[in-house]
Amino acid sequence: MASRRIVLGVGGGIAAYKAALLLRRFKEAGHDVRVVPTEAALNFVGAPTWAALSGHPVSTSVWDEVHEVPHVRIGQQADLVVVAPATADLLARAAHGLAGDLLTNVLLTARCPVLLAPAMHTEMWTHPATVANVTILRERGVTVVEPASGRLTGADTGPGRLPEPEELFAAAMSLLEQPAGAVGPGATAPDPSAGGSVTQLPAAGGAVPGDLAGRHVVVSAGGTREPLDPVRFLGNRSSGRQGIALAQTALERGAKVTLVAGSIEVAVPEGVDVVRVETALQMREAMNAAAGGADVVVMAAAVADFRPQSVAEHKIKKSADSEDAPVITLVRNPDILAGLVAARRPGQIVVGFAAETGDETGSALQHATAKLARKGCDLLVLNDVAAGKVFGREDTEVTVLGADGSVTAVPAGSKTTVAGAIWDAVHPLLA
Ligand code: CTP
Repeated sequence: MASRRIVLGVGGGIAAYKAALLLRRFKEAGHDVRVVPTEAALNFVGAPTWAALSGHPVSTSVWDEVHEVPHVRIGQQADLVVVAPATADLLARAAHGLAGDLLTNVLLTARCPVLLAPAMHTEMWTHPATVANVTILRERGVTVVEPASGRLTGADTGPGRLPEPEELFAAAMSLLEQPAGAVGPGATAPDPSAGGSVTQLPAAGGAVPGDLAGRHVVVSAGGTREPLDPVRFLGNRSSGRQGIALAQTALERGAKVTLVAGSIEVAVPEGVDVVRVETALQMREAMNAAAGGADVVVMAAAVADFRPQSVAEHKIKKSADSEDAPVITLVRNPDILAGLVAARRPGQIVVGFAAETGDETGSALQHATAKLARKGCDLLVLNDVAAGKVFGREDTEVTVLGADGSVTAVPAGSKTTVAGAIWDAVHPLLA
C-alpha cells in the first residue's frame, strides 16, 4: 500500500502506551503519522516519545503554530484518523461535536475514515451515556471498535481493554483499502431505491482481512437435541458446517468469535470461544447471554421447533403384553431468533437462516421474504433445500435477503466461501 497520512489521536488512558506500538506499526508499513494526544494522554506517555517515534512535532492545543492553522489542516489532509485509546470523555466530546482541543478539532475537520478504539472500565463502557455516544458516532459513519475483554487497570476484568495494536493495525489498514467515500463521516448512505434488485456476487466472495477487527460476533451452529428419555432424543441432520465456517471466517477477518454449538460433526476452530449446548432451551439461554455485548448475532443453528412435553426419567420400555406404541406429546420451543431480535441493542446486526422449499403457496424466495419480515432480522440467508444442497454437504448455494429489500444470490461454493459472502453482506451494515 502506498504511504498514507494517518492521524493517531491518543486519549488520556493507561492504554496510551499501546498506541506507541501502533504508531511504530504504521511507521514500519511506510505511513506518515501525525500524533495528536489530548492533554490528559501526556500524563501517561510524554510528548517527546510521540515526537521521536512519529518524526513530527506534537501539540495538544490549537494555539501552537497558529500560522499553519493546524486545527483545520491536520484533519483536512488526513487519509485516516485513528484514536487509541478513546476514553469515555473523548467519545462524548466527539459525539457532541465539542472542539476544545486539537484532537477534537481534527475529528470535526476530517472527512476521511475515522476509527475510534475505546478503552475504559467496564462500568464506563456499559453506562447508558457511553452507549448512546457510541451509537451516535456509528450512525455518523465512524468506526468504533468493540473493546476487548480481559484484565483492566487494576485486578478487575471485563470488556474495556484496548484491543492489541496488531488488531487495530489490521482494522486501520482495511479502512484505508475501502474505496473513497465508502466509510467515514462523509460516507454516502445506501440508496434505498436499490431495494429489490438482485446483486450477483463473485463466486470467490470478497474476504477482507481485518475488516471485522474489534467486533464481537456470536454464531450458533449445529442441531439441537430434545431428550425423550435418558437414551433417546429428537434431533435433526444439521452438521454445523455452515455455522462453523462462519465462525472460522469471522475469526480470520479479525473478530472475536463466540460459537454456541449444538450437535456438530466438525471440529471447532482454535481461537473461537465455544459454549456447548444440547437443547433449544439451553441454546436460547447461551445465545441470550452471549448476545448482550455482541455486534453481530447469527442464528445458523437448526433449532427444533418442538420438544417432548416431558422427559422420561427412565428408558421408555416396550410393553411385554401389548403391541401399543407410546404417544409422545410435543410442545413448542421458543423462537430464539425472534427473542434475540426483540432484545437486540442499538446497532446490533441479527442474521437468520431459513431452509425453505417452494410449494403451491409460493416459491422458496417468497417464503423466505415473508420469514425475514416475520422474524425482524437484518439479513436472512436462504437455503433452497429442494435442491438437496444443505445438510452435511461440503458445498452450498444461498441467497442473502436484506431487510432493505436487497436480494443477493451467492453462487454455489464451499461453506467457507459462502460464509465469506455472508460476512461481506454484514460488514456494510456495521458501519
Ligand atoms: N430459529 C430459532 N428458534 C427456533 C426455530 C428457528 O431461533 N425455535 C431460527 C433458526 O436458527 C433460523 C431461523 O430461525 O435462523 C429460521 O428457522 P426456520 O426453522 O426456517 O424457521 P421457523 O421459524 O421454525 O419457521 P418454519 O415454520 O418455516 O419452520
